[in-house]
Amino acid sequence: MPSEKTVYQPNPALSKIAYVSSLNQYQEMYQRSIDNPEDFWGEIAKQFHWETPIDINKFFRYNFDVTKGPIFTKWLDGATTNISYNLLDRNVRNGNGDKVAFYWEGNHPDDYSRLTYKKLLEEVCRLSNVLKSKGVQKGDRVAVYMPMILEAVVTILACARIGAVHSLVFAGFSADSFAERILDCEARVLITSDGVWRGEKLLQLKNICDQSMARCAQKGHNVETCIVVSHLQRVTAPNGTQIKTNKTPMQEGRDVWWHEVVPQASTSCYPEWMQAEDPLFMLYTSGSTGKPKGVLHTTGGYLLYAATTFKYVFDYHPNDVYWCTADIGWITGHTYVVYGPLANAATSVLYEGTPFYPDNDRFWEVVSKYKVSQFYTAPTAIRALMKFDDSLVKKHDLSTLKVLGSVGEPINPEAWLWYYRLVGHEKCSIVDTFWQTETGGHVLTPLPGACPMKPGAASFPFFGVQPVLLDESGKEIKGEGEGYLVFSRPWPGLMRTLYNNHDRYESTYFAKFPGYYCTGDGARRDADGYLWVTGRVDDMLNVSGHLMSTAEVESVLTEHHGVAEAAVVARPHPVKGECLYCFISTTDTAHFDDKLLKDLKQLVRERIGPFAQPDVIQDAPALPKTRSGKIMRRILRKIAVNDRDVGDISTLADSAVVEQLFSARPANA
Ligand code: WTA
Repeated sequence: MPSEKTVYQPNPALSKIAYVSSLNQYQEMYQRSIDNPEDFWGEIAKQFHWETPIDINKFFRYNFDVTKGPIFTKWLDGATTNISYNLLDRNVRNGNGDKVAFYWEGNHPDDYSRLTYKKLLEEVCRLSNVLKSKGVQKGDRVAVYMPMILEAVVTILACARIGAVHSLVFAGFSADSFAERILDCEARVLITSDGVWRGEKLLQLKNICDQSMARCAQKGHNVETCIVVSHLQRVTAPNGTQIKTNKTPMQEGRDVWWHEVVPQASTSCYPEWMQAEDPLFMLYTSGSTGKPKGVLHTTGGYLLYAATTFKYVFDYHPNDVYWCTADIGWITGHTYVVYGPLANAATSVLYEGTPFYPDNDRFWEVVSKYKVSQFYTAPTAIRALMKFDDSLVKKHDLSTLKVLGSVGEPINPEAWLWYYRLVGHEKCSIVDTFWQTETGGHVLTPLPGACPMKPGAASFPFFGVQPVLLDESGKEIKGEGEGYLVFSRPWPGLMRTLYNNHDRYESTYFAKFPGYYCTGDGARRDADGYLWVTGRVDDMLNVSGHLMSTAEVESVLTEHHGVAEAAVVARPHPVKGECLYCFISTTDTAHFDDKLLKDLKQLVRERIGPFAQPDVIQDAPALPKTRSGKIMRRILRKIAVNDRDVGDISTLADSAVVEQLFSARPANA
């Protein structure tokens, strides 16, 4: 295994053609972005269309210090633009109309199609017109629950074109979770598809939406329009037979088929000119107190940041084919499947299925089919694929690859090396991109042609980003050391607020250390100045790249009448990165048995989604608590991994509980 000192140099052939080809050049550009943001971002902004020009006096303002007044960030305030215009019309005018924007690859290898920039613009205009005819206006929220199909991209850009705020929810969240999010953003229009095949599993998305809409109605909120893409009947089912969707129930007056309204609509739609600081989209992310947070991104700064990070971090050149495997329902799908690539007139692959269908080499097959040059995926996928025989990778021609990306969680050196050697043939750069739903785009990452790589290090800040490490007292750690990862100023893509909850925005991200945006992650700086993200420092856990809070899962578990108290901790997992280990105290009348275990797992799946299902549930007649009644999770984390080195337990009300829990670890733990 490589040590912290082991460094892998970028391939000289890659450096030679890269936009940034040496560490020196990166450092110069970085310094300029910090010293003179107006100049740095102003030059980038010139590539885009601004209907009302940028006012240099209002280029960039912010306050990060809660003691000095409300927190705010504004970039390019007063300028107006439209993102869909910049991603589509501008590219068509620049001669990219016939260029492929997306190659769509279906779950089944027999299903594929493509969409050019010109055609994408037409489809976006059609849907924009339909949305307008349904009464959607600037500022209205549109809820989206979609699989990885071209209509999902069309939906996002149609919202952007008319100034509606899209609110996508990953189509793996349960009906309850989706309903909670629709209610929070008060969306009156919902866009979905009848269903989707993921591997051999059929997901009936419209049914889930029906349940969500019914739940909303119970709470007095009515979704007025639900547009449904008829997808299942046009694709190949896993067993080779076409399935019919005439069973999809459609509610008269509310539900409409996409194909009955969109193709008829006009292919031109004048864009709504938006203020740079007008909302573009919201996206929910887990909060450590349970209720999801509606992260809000705005127009001008997000455009600049998505475009610039995409260009430099993937070193995208005009004839490259780029593929990001992230689902469109996560921030990675927003910034690096849709906005970033299209802002650069890129050609991308949009893949509907899983890495394992029809076989465990599907990713590599798709890379060679489309001659992919940049491939971006998550460590959890890499770890899952590493388990299979090397021949599954080796039998495919992966020689077109230049840059390999990783996102979502720390990548362990073993997975990094497998990716580097087997997939990248030791000639590709690996970009380990650290960022968050809140940051809008990459904030720490190596640049592929410039930065010598260390396996597992997110390395250096992107342009305009100023990371700082703080100790518990808020003192800056200079040089080598480990601490809270915070940022001392905003970059253009940082979120602006939490939807309808600016107080929570301030208290979650800015209260702990006045003057800094607090990521909630820890990081270490090594002797060479590289940054290594060490993981969450709050009560959040990251299962297969899905962030969730322990509080969120605990509150679901305690909903069960048999559960008196629950405590959830993260435990390391070889493939998922982390998994959930739950401690349950039953009520006096309940029994901890297989039925209860099954019910609890099912409850979590229903309330949150299948990805949140606990790996272990342990019977805990009592929990380790301080005298003031606070559960000591530090100790529970030790029990979860069966590490008896629990440290100081003198503050516990009853220290015997610890031994009881160790000896009662379940057989599957
Ligand atoms: C974690 C995903 C280490 C981190 C884009 C962060 C990472 C959270 C990395 C955000 C990385 C993401 N190395 N940790 N390269 N990338 N994380 O909002 O804990 O879904 O705070 O955004 O994922 O997850 P989110």
